[in-house]
Amino acid sequence: MSNDDMKKAVARAALEYLDEYDMLIGMGTGSTVNHFIDLLSTVKSRVDAVVSSSEATTAKLKAHGFHVKDLNQTGDILLYFDGADECDAHNRLIKGGGGALTREKVLAEAAEKFICLIDETKRVDILGGFPLPVEVIPMARSLVARKLVALGGQPVFRQGFVTDNGNEIIDVKNLTITDPISLEQQINAISGVVSNGLFARRGADITLIADSQGQVTTQK
Ligand code: A5P
Repeated sequence: MSNDDMKKAVARAALEYLDEYDMLIGMGTGSTVNHFIDLLSTVKSRVDAVVSSSEATTAKLKAHGFHVKDLNQTGDILLYFDGADECDAHNRLIKGGGGALTREKVLAEAAEKFICLIDETKRVDILGGFPLPVEVIPMARSLVARKLVALGGQPVFRQGFVTDNGNEIIDVKNLTITDPISLEQQINAISGVVSNGLFARRGADITLIADSQGQVTTQK
């Protein structure tokens, strides 16, 4: 089974978490979530409105006829569905490969339950194999990069990419992240950092993991 087929399998399994009608849900960003939105459009009556984590997700939701609401209008969200780039045994994540990490983090924070959807290739023992995305305001890029070197990382500027918030991304390679909560806080404390892709302090509540046979297991 291809990676994309595993993403479809986990997206299908996630539909079972819609256990009420007229729900307000939050939606992440990426190819796994895109499969989930496609499937969700077949059970649209279950969803009253969706709060979106990116312009790309908003466009896709609107194309399917979903009602997209602003988080400032809604208050807290019951369920938040999103993918991840890496996930450890404690549902701590690296996210932001698609650059939507800041809004994703806001929605995860606002959600009662965060359901993460991955394929088995993303399940790791120690986070950091995937370069850690850090969103920075443009004028602070070099300063933040030097501080990230001091933390042991190798920062790489994501060329030609602007986030939905008008900022830039530095991808940090070579981090062996043994204490994700501490590193998340340390990076967030650097002036000029908007947020980073470690979702450790607020990780997922449940991770659904599809394997190469299409079976989906639940990690709580
Ligand atoms: C988007 O910014 C990311 O956090 C995605 O959730 C993550 O990169 C997973 O993307 P895929 O579902 O495309 O693998």
